[in-house]
Amino acid sequence: MPDSMIPSSAGQIPDIDSLLHQTHDEHARTRAVAVLHNHALMNLRFQVRDVFEKNGAPEFEKKHGRAVKDGREIAEAMEDNQFFRFYSAIRYNAQEMGPLSRQSAVERALPGMIEIAREAVRQNPAGGSLRLNPDLEIPRYVSALDVHLAPGCYYSEFTEDDVAQGALLGATLSGTAGAGRVNRVRNFAGIGESIGYWLTQKYPDFRPLRVLDLGTQSGNNLFAYRNHFPEIELYGIDVGAPCLRYGYAKAQAMGIPVHFSQQNAEATDFPDGYFDLIVSSFFFHEISLPGTKRILKECHRLLSPGGIMANMELPPHKACDPFLNFAFDWDTKNNNEPFYATYRAQDPTELCAEAGFPKDAAFELRVPDITSFDMQKYPEFLSGKLEAPPHGRGGWFIFGSRKAA
Ligand SMILES: C[S@@+](CC[C@H](N)C(=O)[O-])C[C@H]1O[C@@H](n2cnc3c(N)ncnc32)[C@H](O)[C@@H]1O
Repeated sequence: MPDSMIPSSAGQIPDIDSLLHQTHDEHARTRAVAVLHNHALMNLRFQVRDVFEKNGAPEFEKKHGRAVKDGREIAEAMEDNQFFRFYSAIRYNAQEMGPLSRQSAVERALPGMIEIAREAVRQNPAGGSLRLNPDLEIPRYVSALDVHLAPGCYYSEFTEDDVAQGALLGATLSGTAGAGRVNRVRNFAGIGESIGYWLTQKYPDFRPLRVLDLGTQSGNNLFAYRNHFPEIELYGIDVGAPCLRYGYAKAQAMGIPVHFSQQNAEATDFPDGYFDLIVSSFFFHEISLPGTKRILKECHRLLSPGGIMANMELPPHKACDPFLNFAFDWDTKNNNEPFYATYRAQDPTELCAEAGFPKDAAFELRVPDITSFDMQKYPEFLSGKLEAPPHGRGGWFIFGSRKAA
């Protein structure tokens, strides 16, 4: 097992993102693209519903003599609809222009960022570790295409000790003096916070000592577990070395000890029962179905008796109405995420059971995003009197299970 664990010594690591500066025009472009993308997702997507109800549904009924049954039939009904095509073009282009608008700032800052990441490894002031495996075979579902249209995907390396993909996909960019930051309307880093908090409320006696985050990218949703379980050791695995180097440098600058390693979640090198908690976010929908089944089996192997696995993911088909299924599954054909619809067609509880988890311990639910939820209402949510907001709009769908004690 290649192992580049570095001994610790005192030191100060600057925030790797502090080197990233956009010119006025670059910043304006990034903001414009972010606003356009958000508009497509949060507004246009729902206007497509109106258009479907007004035009697509009656046309389908006229042609087939019955109403649409599912999202796939809505896709068929809407394929040639002008408004749907307009929406798709806006979304596709906004998605593609996002990383492109950030790329030049990353390229300018890259030599300095790589130096910070190397210094973080040399000094290791926060503890934790970074293990990279240059021989790791990148699974085909990651290597065969640029997932969600980001050039270079998560793993490509263009120079020695590269961190570019980590910065390109993970950084929040500042503009020229006074230009401010790119505002994210949806808080993607609130997922770890929200699952961690839910675990403390749902399982008050649960005291995990080690947590593993699958497909951690740069640890964005891993760090928060320390806020809810102060004694916990953080482990994050990913196949992408640039993201791990970048995440490790971020963690060192924040003083958070994290054990990052470059591993395929389908078969890791951790011993049986090593973790009490396994989490993931935005992960399984990018994995092939056989890969998903292998990963869930691996989770079962890695959990200690009574350990919990909690994954934030897209809600499955069975939990959504046909239009929402059509809307979610857009990414399958249009966003280089070919396993989206196949993943969503599965029953998460059945997948967990197939991997060895007891069926009666399985859960599938939406939890509130605690960075935006009115927390006075949390007891009402816990007691079942109040539903969490929709997935991606103030709530997050999660599924998982607890290994038999
Ligand atoms: C959409 S990103 C997840 C981002 C991160 N979890 C978050 O919440 O911000 C999916 C990540 O999974 C990683 N990945 C994909 N397949 C993997 C596998 N088999 N084993 C480990 N990581 C994998 C990718 O490299 C990528 O970084």
